[in-house]
Amino acid sequence: MDTQKESNISLVVLVLFFLSYTAFAKDSKFSLIDQAVVQTHSPHARYLSKLFLFGDSYLDTGNNKFTYGSWTFPYGMTFPGIPAGRYSDGLVLTDFLASFMGMKSPMPYKQWNKINKRRVRNGMNFAHGGTGVFNTLYKEPNMTAQINTFKQYFADGVYNERDLDKSMAIVALSGNDYTQYVLDGGADEGFRAYIVKVLNQLEVNLREIEKIGLKKVVMLTMQPLGCLPKNAVSLSYEKCDEPWNNDTIFHNMLLQQIVQRLNRDTTDSPFHILDLYSAFMSVINKQGEEGSTKTGSPEFGNPLLKPCCIGTRPIINTCGIVDDSGVKQYTLCENPNDNIFWDSVHPTQSGWHAVSSALKPSFEELMLYDQLNIYLRGPSLSASVASS
Ligand SMILES: *[C@@H]1O[C@H](CO)[C@@H](O)[C@H](O)[C@H]1NC(C)=O
Ligand SMILES: *[C@@H]1O[C@H](CO)[C@@H](O)[C@H](O)[C@H]1NC(C)=O
Repeated sequence: MDTQKESNISLVVLVLFFLSYTAFAKDSKFSLIDQAVVQTHSPHARYLSKLFLFGDSYLDTGNNKFTYGSWTFPYGMTFPGIPAGRYSDGLVLTDFLASFMGMKSPMPYKQWNKINKRRVRNGMNFAHGGTGVFNTLYKEPNMTAQINTFKQYFADGVYNERDLDKSMAIVALSGNDYTQYVLDGGADEGFRAYIVKVLNQLEVNLREIEKIGLKKVVMLTMQPLGCLPKNAVSLSYEKCDEPWNNDTIFHNMLLQQIVQRLNRDTTDSPFHILDLYSAFMSVINKQGEEGSTKTGSPEFGNPLLKPCCIGTRPIINTCGIVDDSGVKQYTLCENPNDNIFWDSVHPTQSGWHAVSSALKPSFEELMLYDQLNIYLRGPSLSASVASS
């Protein structure tokens, strides 16, 4: 009976998987992005071609258990049209970054286990929504466990040294450890010390990823926690909460120091930062500016930080929850495209589109296969040769 159930589940996964990829291919806007990237990026050899993702819901594209929010309506309503494991109405950061590299979004490893084993060449997604470096209320693998799974895939020969040479790891830590601290009744006075503790563990994790041998390890700065709807609700969703943003800035400052230290301790400086904090702030600050629609950045709804899907208990994320008699415990906006945020902590697809567009220039530099050699061969060297 259990086997029957399992095979039914894998059938559902299979169907969802094909639905999502068909829908992705059909979605004209994003397949256009795909094509544009593929055309401008040949020869492919100059670019990294595999992506491995670790972290939480900002990157997860379907690893969590079916019982979690990402597998319930209205998640996925814009893309792929049904709930399919992404914490948004549609595409998330992973999907946009992969499209910049001219490839499909790496498959969630949980879905790969059971089906089509050929689709590994563009990398794999190990991120689980709701997790942190430490264990949280979500009973899903923390970052250490995610890294260990990847190590196992490497040991099993799913990936080899040559794959790693073309690989970039992207790591997101979006604050679940801090949510857990608050849930555990942690005091304000101890919070900065706890941030230090989280960053120390993150440093251990980043070292572990690098040791596997990937070409680049890219750490996202933490998004401005004070701008998340759950923290901006007390400010009528109009402004970001300053104390929370200050704590985030402190987190990111420590992160910067860690990355510098890690690069000093390794050859080739494989560690990089992708500044998600600034990308969010630029999207938020751009709104309401004169001509923001003309320059192509979407006009987001008013108030700016109000999410599309609002649970009856807005502080905790209850989007998608129904009571025992099936009555919705949330309200849904008319058009998710009008909002930066989807629920109390996650952007909408169009929010992610705006944020990832802000990240694009720096991400395109990170995609380069061998930055160092390109710089050495660049104009400055020929200029100095010519003058000598
Ligand atoms: C990660 O999860 C495992 C399994 O629950 C646990 O043993 C380990 O202590 C956790 N790691 C950290 C850093 O909390
Ligand atoms: C946040 O940081 C800024 C700059 O350091 C400071 O001026 C401000 O008072 C801080 N705000 C809070 C609420 O801590």
